[in-house]
Order: sequence, then structure tokens, then C-alpha cells
Amino acid sequence: MLKRGDLYYPTKEFKKNACVKSKAVYKQALKNPVKFWEKLAKGLFWFKPWKKGFLRKPPYFQWFVGGKINITANIFDKNQLGWGAIKNKIALIWEPEPIDEEAITLTYGELFKEVNKFANALKKLGVRKGDRVGIYLPMIPEAIISMLACARLGAVHTVVFSAFSSQALKVRLKDTEAKILITADGYWRRGKVINLKENADEGARDTQVEKIIVVKRANNEIPWNSQRDLWWQNLIKDGSEQCEPEIMDSEDLFFILYTSGSTGKPKGTVHTCGGYAVQAYWTGKWIFDLRKDDIFWCTSDPGWITGHTYTIYSPLLNGATTLMFEGAPDFPTADRWAQLIEKYGVTIFYTAPTAIRMFERYGAELIKKYKFKTLRLLGSVGEPIDETAWLWYFKEVGKGRCPLVDTWWQTETGGILITSLPGIGPFKPAFTGLPFPGIKVKILDEKGKVCKMGKTGNLVLLPPFAPGLLRGIYKNPEKYLETYWSQCGKKVYFTSDAAFKDKQGLIRIVGRVDDAIKVAGHRLTTGELEAAINSHDEINESAVIGIPDEIKGESPAVFAVYRGKKTDEEIKQEIVGLIRKQIGPIALPKEIFVVEDLPKTRSGKIMRRILKRLWTGEDLGDLSTLANPETVEKIKEIIRSK
Ligand code: WTA
Repeated sequence: MLKRGDLYYPTKEFKKNACVKSKAVYKQALKNPVKFWEKLAKGLFWFKPWKKGFLRKPPYFQWFVGGKINITANIFDKNQLGWGAIKNKIALIWEPEPIDEEAITLTYGELFKEVNKFANALKKLGVRKGDRVGIYLPMIPEAIISMLACARLGAVHTVVFSAFSSQALKVRLKDTEAKILITADGYWRRGKVINLKENADEGARDTQVEKIIVVKRANNEIPWNSQRDLWWQNLIKDGSEQCEPEIMDSEDLFFILYTSGSTGKPKGTVHTCGGYAVQAYWTGKWIFDLRKDDIFWCTSDPGWITGHTYTIYSPLLNGATTLMFEGAPDFPTADRWAQLIEKYGVTIFYTAPTAIRMFERYGAELIKKYKFKTLRLLGSVGEPIDETAWLWYFKEVGKGRCPLVDTWWQTETGGILITSLPGIGPFKPAFTGLPFPGIKVKILDEKGKVCKMGKTGNLVLLPPFAPGLLRGIYKNPEKYLETYWSQCGKKVYFTSDAAFKDKQGLIRIVGRVDDAIKVAGHRLTTGELEAAINSHDEINESAVIGIPDEIKGESPAVFAVYRGKKTDEEIKQEIVGLIRKQIGPIALPKEIFVVEDLPKTRSGKIMRRILKRLWTGEDLGDLSTLANPETVEKIKEIIRSK
């Protein structure tokens, strides 16, 4: 059986039917990546072909310049498989959390009608090409319908994860100046109804939102403003089932998705129409070997980039069936996820290491009875997967016969950029693999020199980058330049990840080198947590670090400077409250330490590295540059006496 360090190759049978099986594709693509991507782009339907494949004025670039496209035309009537072949095929299976409630399935034809009806409703409300629309929905079919309806009209969707707080929603609505917000009355999570509308109301207050469209999902009591609020169900009642797609320029704004910013202000990553569609379509086809008979389950919420690309756009462009589950994968029983794989005959399962570690924790006994006969491919995403979790997933879920693709990418890249291809391999525990054909990366040391094999350095993308890579940060051009195009020079895109290569050239991602932490695969920054904590009247200094967590990978630990009269317990409660209110429950810290001072350099810089070492017990290194070395001992004592 496979062990650490071993290489696994796809079986002959898998290889025989795989979409790509020859290594030659890498070489061909690298010869002329632009040509390669142009060839792939021709696999989609364009209203008008592009004039130039790639245009670059560093650090700005464009793809398929002058081409005209609409992603929904490619999903529906102009799908590459032919509309006749997929019209009656199931596009979406939706499983509600309550087990006594029936699932919903929609064929491509039915989904198309729903999308058009809702697009017409949005049009009636005045939504036009380029208008921003906020979507704050749980995992229900309307999340997909509303995103596709925006895409149909050329309106720009900004999806906000439903477990983000009202304040997090407000910041995003303000930045995009969305006039329409789509939300739901509530949804089920672990047996409880979460009242989403209350949050939506609070989030929309003092923003430009004029209308709130509400999906009736949980039938819970909600506040209602009849001047402003509209029921989704009423809006689409008599609407036409036809709506012409807006003809979009390849470089027109497609969507904005926010990711954590270091100072508390999230960054709106800007994605465009043509490049994103090409990348979503082809990465799905080649990395997940997607075909129309596949039942693809990507467990990500549409509020994250993984949900955008692999719960929605990629499987639908490929004519597959996508499965969406409303609730928690271990509710009401620990094996709910396993039951779902069997119930629907899932063929490809794509999830995060946090979920894998959680399943593992429940014990192999629990899933022994599941044979997972339909599964043919597994995927992992969002955070580094350690060898133990990799091997468990491969053996217990994939039963040792399914290729396991560990996929590296970011909100910024729009689609997967580094992974092994399932028909080619090799797959090596904890290594993501090779750059996708046509993608050029390098690992650089501090001086900008290429690192030798086995040496960790900064991971960068080289021209022509990727068709789906972000084109900017919404309304913040300086941040775009500073974050991605300065630390490693103006000519390469800096990923903020550290990585190294093994002797086969397979890449292992070590983790972020900026202040981002991955908590259960969710991307947060220590800076945004600090901003929330420092908004406390009596706290103006704090430091947050990511500490190892057996299930979540990392968890935040807070060191807050407080010298007032309240007890530590009271202050801790208040900090929890602030984080919950300003970010959301996913950011809640695992540990909070109330301290008198933080270790700082003479120039006043907080030394988070020392705090981290105090926590892990590592050697503290040279403390001579500290202005206040005495705090180190005090904090050590506080941690020890916990
Ligand atoms: C991390 C999620 C190791 C990485 C798609 C990246 C990974 C950040 C992997 C982006 C992986 C993502 N192995 N680390 N397979 N995939 N990451 O924007 O640090 O939520 O920079 O996008 O997640 O997180 P984001």
C-alpha cells in the first residue's frame, strides 16, 4: 500500500478513458503558452473571435482581446456537448439539510428557464450590464440561479459568504455600491434555522442598496420593509422564460469576489469574462476529467472562489451534474457526507483537508460499510494537506484506486494552476504536482534567484500568467500593485505562498508568507482580526498569530494588550463578540491571552514571530533587537499557566 514519499500513477483503466493522458501536452504548451491557451479558448463558443490572444503592459495584461462571449451561452444553448445532448440531463442536485425534506433536481433545460426568469426580473428592477449585484445566500439553488442570471445580463455578481457577519457584508456592499441585494429568510445549519434576513437588513443599512430580494427557504419570521423588500417567488411568477444573453467583451468585468485584506479592509478581486470561462472550462475537464455523466460534488460554498469555479461554472460548462448540499457534512450523523456520495452515486469528490481530517477523526469504522463504488477521482483544495490526511483520504475514501489531485490556486487565480493531472500523475502524498499546461511558475529566493531542488522560496507566476488571473483590486489600483507586483519585482505575479520542488519537479506548498492564515480552509488575515479587536474602546494594541490546529489546520490565537479594570474573562468575551460581529463565527480565536505589552522592535514593530515561537516552544532566537525583552518572559508565563 502507498506510503509517504511514494508515487502513485493512474491505473491503466483510468488512463485509457482520461481526457488527457500524454505528458507531451506539457511540453507543447510551454513552447508557446499563448498559442496553447488560444487553442483551448477555441473550444468555447464566442459570438466574435478575439483579435489578439494576449496583450501585456506589465503588470497589466489582457486575454483574448476583442473576443465576445457570455458564459451562460456556453453553459446552456451553446454548450460544447450540444444543447440537445444535455437539455434533459440533470444539471443540479440540491440536498437540503433536514433529512425529511426532499431533494431538488433541475435539468439543464429547467435551470436555463429559472435563470432566464430571474434575469428578466432583475432587468425589470433596472439591472443592466456592469451593475453590481450583492448575493448573500446560503447553499440553495437560488445561489446558482442568481449568479447565472447576473452573468446572463452582464451584471457583476459579488457573492458574500452567508456565515460572514452583517458588518462584513456592509463593507462589501459599500465598496461595490450594489443597489440590489439577494438574500434568503433563513437556512438550516446543524438542525437550527439561521435568520439570514436580519443580518442582510443590518448589512444593507447605510449602503446604496435600494431593493432586497428574499428567497423563501426556511419559512422563519423575518423583519420586512414593504418599500424595499421583494419576495423572489413573486418576482419570477409571470416572467418570460427567455432572455437573450448580453454580449460581453472578453475583458469586461465578470465578477468581484472579496478576499481578506491585511488591514481589515477586504480586497475585491476583479475577474473578467473570457479568460475566466476558458480556465474554468478546461481546468475542470483536464483536472477532474469531467464528462457529462459525472456527478461532481465540490463541497465549497458559492461564497468562496472554489464554490464559484468548481461548484458552479466548471461542472456546468462541462455538462456534468453538480451536487450542492445545504448543511454541514457531519450532520445529523457523522457519515452524512458518505451517505450522500452513495445516494447520488458521486463520481468525483472535491473537498478541503479540514473536512478530510474531520472525517478521519470519526474513525475508519464509520465508513467501512461504504464501498464508494461510483467514486473515480478525489480532489483536495484550500490548505496544505499533510501526508497522514492524504493517505487516509486515498485509502479509506478512494479505496486506493482513485487518483487524488491536490489542487493549488487562489481567489486571485480564478481556477486551479498547480496539480497533477489524473490521467498522467504522478500523485505524491502532500505534493500538489506540476503547473497546469501553459502555466509557468518559479520558486525564488530572497534575492530573486531560482531556488535549488528542495529549497523553499517564494512561488511566482511568469508571463503569460493565467487567463483567469485577477486583473485588479476593485477601486484600489495601488493595493493591486503593492500586493502582487512589487515584492518579487514588477514582471512576475507574487502568490504570497512559499513552496519547494522535489526531484521530479513536483511542487509542495509550504504555506503563506504574508499575514494570511487558513482556518478550516477559509482565508483570513491576522491584520483583519487585529483591526476588529482594536476597535474595542480600551484595547488599542493586539497581535494575532495562526497556531496549529489538528482539524482546522490553523486557528487564530489573540494577544491583546489591556490594562483596564475588567476581568480577563470579561475582556475575552468582548473580544469574541467583536470578532463575531465584524467578521463572523469562522474567525473566532482558539486562544485569547490578555497581556500588558507585546514584544516590539525599537522602531515599534510587533514581533509576531516571537509570539508564535513562544506558543510552539521553539527557540526564540536573538532577542537583542527588542525594545522590551522583559515582556517575553511575562507572556511565556501567561501561556504556561493557561
Ligand atoms: C492556500 C482557495 C496548499 C494557499 C482556492 C493559497 C493551498 C491560499 C492549496 C488561497 C493547496 C490553496 N495546498 N495550500 N492545494 N490550495 N492553498 O484565496 O496558501 O481562499 O495562497 O483560494 O490557500 O486561498 P483562497
